[in-house]
Amino acid sequence: MGQTLFVNSPFDTVTFLRGPAMPNRFMLAPLTNQQSHDDGTLSADEHKWLTMRAHGGFGMTMTAAAHVQEIGRAFPGQLGICRDDHIPALAAMADEIRSTGSLAIVQLHHGGNRVPEALNNMTPVCPSDDPETGARGLTTEEVEQLRDDFIAAAVRAQTAGYDGVQLHGAHGYVICQFLSSEINHRADHYGGSLENRSRLLFEIMAGIREQCRADFHLSVRLSPERFGMVMNEIIEVYSQIVDSGDVDFIDMSLWNSFKEPNEDEHKGRSLMEIFAELPRGDVRLGVAGKIHEPSDVQRVIDTGVDIAILGRVAILHHDYPNLLSGDGGFAPRHVPVSATTLAEEGLSDTFIAYMSTWKGFVSD
Ligand SMILES: Cc1cc2nc3c(=O)[nH]c(=O)nc-3n(C[C@H](O)[C@H](O)[C@H](O)COP(=O)(O)O)c2cc1C
Repeated sequence: MGQTLFVNSPFDTVTFLRGPAMPNRFMLAPLTNQQSHDDGTLSADEHKWLTMRAHGGFGMTMTAAAHVQEIGRAFPGQLGICRDDHIPALAAMADEIRSTGSLAIVQLHHGGNRVPEALNNMTPVCPSDDPETGARGLTTEEVEQLRDDFIAAAVRAQTAGYDGVQLHGAHGYVICQFLSSEINHRADHYGGSLENRSRLLFEIMAGIREQCRADFHLSVRLSPERFGMVMNEIIEVYSQIVDSGDVDFIDMSLWNSFKEPNEDEHKGRSLMEIFAELPRGDVRLGVAGKIHEPSDVQRVIDTGVDIAILGRVAILHHDYPNLLSGDGGFAPRHVPVSATTLAEEGLSDTFIAYMSTWKGFVSD
């Protein structure tokens, strides 16, 4: 009798420590699209763009980064979750996403020193005074308020009917700024050692577990390099997140899942392999970055990653998972694509104009 060979498929169900399972391994990456109203309320355009992805077969539908404090708003037209009047439109979207069988998740964000001063007419804030951007350092009480506002935003997402939230700890925004020894020069217990620099993140996680229902899904997004990140430190934070038991899923934002790390010490394996090989118990791992072809999705899964996170290719195909599950031999489009194609894929003129600022995405 030969051994049965189990091959993982993109269409396997993914279970989590808490909350509902994902019906497949496809997650829509958080994608800032500038389609919200000026006051941060979700617009009909944003509702349409995201619900189309849920109907298109994504097993988890993540919103764009949503700011948890007014001063943390980093883009015009950014989604907000810092006031209770943000809840009704978010709730209508959660209902529709969940009706498709997809998990509905809000990404929680604060721009820190990456907020342009003119955007909110306020001096941006940061872990410590930052001469480069003009951002001012937060007092200890303000850090505690920031923590509490992340937690309050998670409670709002729960009230709005979401399955869970993701903490945006990547790409040089505020949680990442706290993690960075280049940016965080605080002298209190939120600065200095890695334990202190990661305290904000762990306190937010623990607060969400305390204040949200027991089956509320929680994930953390991290970047392992650039933005002042050091591989060994992020590996340490990753392992501590696993050990905390507070988190269901870790999203590694790699920009290129298949490349080797920049740091010599870690060369020899791809970024995704490094994280896939770390012990994670029943915590799920997803990776994002240059997953485009169906063969890329399979490669990610074959490496032992649980969830394939699609960004730009999900802009090009709202129904990537459904197209792949059909028998038509799906071959995704490549950029540049026309504004007409993007409109057919559910992007408003505002989002198409934003994508025109991403070099080579929209054809003239
Ligand atoms: C237009 C655009 C907006 C993005 N907005 C966010 C965001 O709000 N939050 C976030 O964590 N990452 C954001 N990202 C990063 C993506 O989630 C994803 O990690 C990245 O695009 C790499 O995946 P890809 O190669 O499949 O596009 C954005 C990327 C793009 C292209």
